[in-house]
Order: sequence, then C-alpha cells, then structure tokens
Amino acid sequence: MTPVPEEAPTVIAQISDLHCGSIYFMPSLANRVIAELNELKPDIVVVTGDLTDMGFKQEFRKARSLIDQIECPDVLVLPGNHDARNVGEAHFHEYFGARDSEFAKDGVRVLCIDSSEPDLDSGRVGRERYNWIEERFDDPDEFKVACLHHHLVPVPGTGRERNTVYDAGDVLRVLSKCGTDVVLCGHKHVPNVWRLEDILIVNAGTACSMRLRGTTKPSYNIIELHHGRVTVTLKYPFGPTEVVADFRRAHRRVCRWRPVHEIDLDECE
Ligand SMILES: [Fe+2]
Repeated sequence: MTPVPEEAPTVIAQISDLHCGSIYFMPSLANRVIAELNELKPDIVVVTGDLTDMGFKQEFRKARSLIDQIECPDVLVLPGNHDARNVGEAHFHEYFGARDSEFAKDGVRVLCIDSSEPDLDSGRVGRERYNWIEERFDDPDEFKVACLHHHLVPVPGTGRERNTVYDAGDVLRVLSKCGTDVVLCGHKHVPNVWRLEDILIVNAGTACSMRLRGTTKPSYNIIELHHGRVTVTLKYPFGPTEVVADFRRAHRRVCRWRPVHEIDLDECE
C-alpha cells in the first residue's frame, strides 16, 4: 500500500447509484446525503455511476442539480450502465464531461474509468485503455485510486454473478501491476470490501434510492487514506456510521505472474 504523504488523512466520500428518475429515488435521502457530505467536508467526492435510471436528459439534469449542491471543489463523476441507456452518454457529456477522467491532489491520483456499454447492463474496461491506466499510474510515490461502476470482483448478496466487467481478470492484472491501492465500484447497491493482493476493492450501496437487495439499506462510503493505512466507513443517511474495514500496509512479496516494479522487501519484514 503506497503511503499517503501528508499527516492528515485524505478523505474520499463515495456515493453511488443515485437513480434519479426512478420511482425508487428518494429526494429526502438525496437531500440528507448532501447535507451530511457538506458537514463532513471530504477532500474528494466520487460518484460511481448510475446517476439516472434510464439515461434521459431530465434525469441527468436532476443529478447535476443535486451534485452541484455538494460543497466540495473536487467532485468526480463517472457513468454506469443505467446512464448508458437510450444514448445517455450524450447527456452525460453535456452535464458531466468526459466519461473517463483523472484527478490528482496531495499525492493521491484518482482515475475514473467508464465501464458502461450502450444499452447493455454488462460492462467492460477494454484492452484499449490498459496502456492509459498504466501510464497514469506510473508514479510509485502516488496513492492510486481507480473507480469504475461495475464490479471488479464478485460481491456477496448480489444474486447470480453477472456483474463483474467482462475483462475483470485482465483489469486486475493491470491494476495490480501498476500498484493500485484502492478500487471504488458501485452497480448492485451492496456495500462490500475485499482485499485482493495489495488492492482494497470497495463497493458502495445506493445512496438515495430504495432499489435495495435483501436486507441492505441506502448507504455511502467514507474512505480515509492515512499514512500506510486505509479505513472504510459505511454511512447510512439519517443513521449511524460503521467502520467496516481498517487495513494496514502489507506488501505482497512476490508473484510470478504479476511482478511489481517497486517492492522493498526490507519494508515487508
Ligand atoms: Fe448499475
């Protein structure tokens, strides 16, 4: 895990799957999440897709108006499969800009990777973007956060497994090789944290809709990047906070298939 340079943690709030326009969208939850974020004052807010339900312009306009109320200078937004319905990418471009984007601040680099495909619920990253990821994540001193809407690994409690990107194995290899520290995903509205090799893979629930599975509740994630340590806190709008993961630095020593360019074996002792 790449150490974060500063003393104070960098705080990333991850909200996901707003589903503006759905009959299950809850304005009271959306307003509450915005109020809680404005009180929390995170350094970065990441919205991991499914801003809309059907990719319609009026749904994007609503999502934009909500996100504009978040008092954070650095809000990063990427599309989900619902946003890719009905040629929604045209409206995404109008209201949020590029579908792939990157951001760097205080030693933390964030890549937002569009995993959506027009009119499909399935997703992919695509080998044409592997070089871009490797190039942007080539600084061994930066803390690296990759964001995509679809799952990168299976998540418990999401039903029949069809939710990972088609090229999940190859994407994992790319992200692992270039020393990715954290991956943020949305999609099936079930919060979860997996650690896979040196990567912490964090999934978010739906922040403000009642499109829920099983006994899950609307929620969002607060990720704190400390020096050599990452904590993930689940926040329920109107409800409590719960620290759900606390990971300390621990390097993989060796892996035949994924050589890491920077491993300080002494540091692993
Ligand atoms: Fe989705």
